Amino acid sequence: MERIIEIEKMSFESEYESSLRPNSWDDYIGQEKIKKNLQVFIKASKKRAEALDHVLFFGPPGLGKTTLAYLIANEMEANIKITAAPMIEKSGDLAAILSNLEEGDVLFIDEIHRLSPAIEEILYPAMEDFRLDIIIGSGPAAQTIKIDLPKFTLIGATTRAGMISSPLRDRFGMHFRLQFYTPEELALIIQKAASKLEKPCLDDAALEMAKRCRGTPRIALRLLKRIRDFADVEDEDTISLQRAKYGLDELGVNSLGFDEMDLRFLNILLESKGRPLGLSTISAALSEDEGTVEDVIEPYLLAKGYIERTARGRIATPKCYELFRLNPAGQGLFE
Ligand SMILES: Nc1ncnc2c1ncn2[C@@H]1O[C@H](COP(=O)(O)OP(=O)(O)OP(=O)(O)O)[C@@H](O)[C@H]1O
Ligand SMILES: [Mg+2]
Repeated sequence: MERIIEIEKMSFESEYESSLRPNSWDDYIGQEKIKKNLQVFIKASKKRAEALDHVLFFGPPGLGKTTLAYLIANEMEANIKITAAPMIEKSGDLAAILSNLEEGDVLFIDEIHRLSPAIEEILYPAMEDFRLDIIIGSGPAAQTIKIDLPKFTLIGATTRAGMISSPLRDRFGMHFRLQFYTPEELALIIQKAASKLEKPCLDDAALEMAKRCRGTPRIALRLLKRIRDFADVEDEDTISLQRAKYGLDELGVNSLGFDEMDLRFLNILLESKGRPLGLSTISAALSEDEGTVEDVIEPYLLAKGYIERTARGRIATPKCYELFRLNPAGQGLFE
């Protein structure tokens, strides 16, 4: 039984994404440690007939945080209510959400690092003691009314581990950091999605796409959809390696999995000839805000060892110079 009540429609979720979203643990590929731990904790809380402790997910966009929240609710046979921090503007907004919860419900708050301090204050007693403290009036006449809340599970997700306040972080009983996926895991995700789309994808074709999607399932699925279009136009029943390569090249997807922004980022670092560059300098050169650079572009390049963050700024690693066949002085090694 899964009833999903959306408090606010989340517009960033495209239709195909929800149609391809795994709805069982078996379909959720990779992140094995997180999966294993969650399954144990869920089993234990079900055994005790209690709500699961609050869960916090960190990690770059598109790695499966929202998907895990749905899977947890499903496994707990609980309703899930979904919102995002920017939608909770006033303390009354959060009070309304909390007082509408039922015993055992899962409340998912996306982008939880963006809650204002005043809203966080309301969340603390709600998370710890399942209690809502409402202050009525002001000055000496102010009164606090305490309302008991049903026991619920808060699931928070954020792309910015560093920006979540420590009192809030500490109130989550479980913290999980999602990792980038291996090409093999991504190939499996692509193949499962391809069968759902009724356009089987050959092993080598899936692996080719998997290598070019920045370790991210969301990008993998987006590529799959486009390659399927190329196959459809050619009246092909399955996606072959040849079609996948053709499509990826047509889409301008780099063979190393870099997107255009990655290449521009690396180019800026390489051109600095070994001098560390600050986040603000890089962001300005890319015309991107610092948050996007830190959350979306850098994590993959860091994980792959192409860049390093030092106290003085970002630098390209020897691996990066090697890749572009340059030395730190910016000269081609083979010129
Ligand atoms: N482990 C996985 N196995 C299979 N598919 C996955 C997995 N993780 C994510 N996906 C797919 O990738 C898409 C993006 O995942 P999801 O929306 O959960 O990412 P997210 O971490 O919440 O991203 P954001 O930070 O942007 O909110 C989903 O549609 C889902 O189908
Ligand atoms: Mg999400």
